[in-house]
Amino acid sequence: MITSTLQIESINVDGYEKVVKIRDEATGLHAIVAVHNTKLGPALGGIRIYPYADTESALVDVLRLAKGMTYKSAIAATGLGGGKSVIIADPRKGHKTTALLHSFAEAINSLGGEYICAEDVGCSTTDVDVISKKTPFVVGLTHEKSSGDPSIFTAYGTYEGILSSWKAKTRSTSLEGVKVLIQGLGAVGEKLVEWLFWAGAKLLVCDLDSAKVQEMKKKYGAESIDPHLVYEADCDVFSPCAMGGILNEENIKKLNCKVVAGCANNQLLTPQDDRRLLEKGILYAPDFVINAGGIINVSFELQKQGYCSQLAREAVSKIPLRLEAIFQIAIEKNIGTQEAAIILAEDRLKNLIDKRVDGPYFHHQ
Ligand code: NAI
Repeated sequence: MITSTLQIESINVDGYEKVVKIRDEATGLHAIVAVHNTKLGPALGGIRIYPYADTESALVDVLRLAKGMTYKSAIAATGLGGGKSVIIADPRKGHKTTALLHSFAEAINSLGGEYICAEDVGCSTTDVDVISKKTPFVVGLTHEKSSGDPSIFTAYGTYEGILSSWKAKTRSTSLEGVKVLIQGLGAVGEKLVEWLFWAGAKLLVCDLDSAKVQEMKKKYGAESIDPHLVYEADCDVFSPCAMGGILNEENIKKLNCKVVAGCANNQLLTPQDDRRLLEKGILYAPDFVINAGGIINVSFELQKQGYCSQLAREAVSKIPLRLEAIFQIAIEKNIGTQEAAIILAEDRLKNLIDKRVDGPYFHHQ
């Protein structure tokens, strides 16, 4: 049942199937859900909880992220479409209450399954557990039949993607002694550091949270890099694993690496930054391809037979093959790798390749 104070307003946005603004005065909820494309299946994407400066910047972010999810799922063959939601709130200031999450869940319910939500920046598996009390259209829960924390699979896929990007750039099949700079030591970043450590990489780490940096120094002998000096630091691979929109005309000039490959969504500020990286001779692993491990993992919980971690692992380990195909398209067409990835995704959408044939099934109810 929708609470009487919950208001849902549809707005028209070119190129998007559905965009709704959600408000609930009683709980302080202020959110936007964007469903970009459902040609291959229902839209799935995380809930970002962030103190956006205003509604306009939240709208810009959710639209970009939702479109990215369409491309990500199209290439990852999840049988899902692209969508995303943002809640304008500051998790660190206690805005993220149970009442707020429940009223968000009621709004999701009213979309009838067109959009399925999951965790994202500012929204943990515990938060999606709370949301699941009021709507079935949520994945990535701690529930025994759910797929749990996606960051484990995102980190593994990103690690495999770094390895294959390094191989594509240098022909070397090993990361032994390769200097990898990881920006952001959160849920994904810290797990990625561990994979890289065991692969013998030389680790450089950076986070706004100095406690996380200290932990990586102590555990893995990583060298810390000042967040302000991260773009000019000398490294072989730069791995953005924090926020999006971080690479731009100015800082691409400063980059001192051979490969950019990390899990952060929407790393390039503008489409032109793709060409800038190409012209600088830096191989860029398109973010929505390398970071698909999490979405691939949650997609398996929507299968009729229920979630299976081994099948999810098998699917995530195909990320290197997809990157190789994209790098090849980019070489053949003399274009940036992001553009090549978009061409591949658009082709899969147009030809309905790997469209969902049944379900989705929600086993956690
Ligand atoms: P998180 O919120 O757990 O960690 C982000 C980390 O980045 C935090 O430690 C934060 O202190 C740090 N950070 C923020 N701004 C920074 C800056 N300017 N310099 C250095 N460090 C900074 O997020 P999570 O889950 O690890 O995700 C990281 C990125 O990967 C995000 O862009 C997210 O959208 C993307 N992603 C995450 C997936 C997942 O499975 N969690 C799946 C696909 C993409």
